[in-house]
Amino acid sequence: MGQVHVVRGRRVIPLDGNEIVQAARASQRVIVDLGTGDGRWTYRLARAHPEWCCIGVDANAAAMRESSWRAARKVARGGAPNTWFVLAAVESLPEALFSIADEVRVQYPWGSLRRMLLVSDRNGLDRIARIGKPGSKFHIALNLLAGDPGQYADLPAIYARAGLEVRRLDVMTVSPGTSWGKRIGQGAPMPILVIEGRVGLNGS
Ligand SMILES: C[S@@+](CC[C@H](N)C(=O)[O-])C[C@H]1O[C@@H](n2cnc3c(N)ncnc32)[C@H](O)[C@@H]1O
Repeated sequence: MGQVHVVRGRRVIPLDGNEIVQAARASQRVIVDLGTGDGRWTYRLARAHPEWCCIGVDANAAAMRESSWRAARKVARGGAPNTWFVLAAVESLPEALFSIADEVRVQYPWGSLRRMLLVSDRNGLDRIARIGKPGSKFHIALNLLAGDPGQYADLPAIYARAGLEVRRLDVMTVSPGTSWGKRIGQGAPMPILVIEGRVGLNGS
């Protein structure tokens, strides 16, 4: 199963991947937030749903420091033992995360993660598909740059080849609920591209 590197405050701890797998199996629902950034969204979700297993993944350990420290406290003091902050790039995810999720989310990504989602980096999309259990949900929210939303019309076919069945591709105006989303929207509603669907088509 291999190791998983978990962030807890300033520490990065190598764990046996089975630990996270067992915790996921014992929970009612598993949510994986890829590119979780400061992890606040994941932490809040875990606090609101103690029976869920909420896993934030990011390539930047420092960003997850504070939320992972909060999560490691006693529950009465704001802890969330059902949260895991995993240090990993999406390009090299630990095997323990494969087929673990009931829902995979990517919210307002930048850099290589955003490119994977928009520019048809086939390998990257495969990685995202691999995290979800067959039939699990995926939800992607991207802040829009200028341009015609029609430019995204090809995405469902590209996603399908990676095993991601797109059921909804919409531009909508929302008030983002994550730290980065709030920052770029400056607290106001903004247009985002939502891509949602199910994991489980065979890649070809
Ligand atoms: C703009 S922040 C968004 C954070 C959070 N989702 C939010 O909305 O507040 C994008 C995050 O994606 C992470 N990221 C970008 N490319 C990545 C990759 N290939 N693998 C893992 N994380 C990545 C960055 O480290 C950064 O924390």
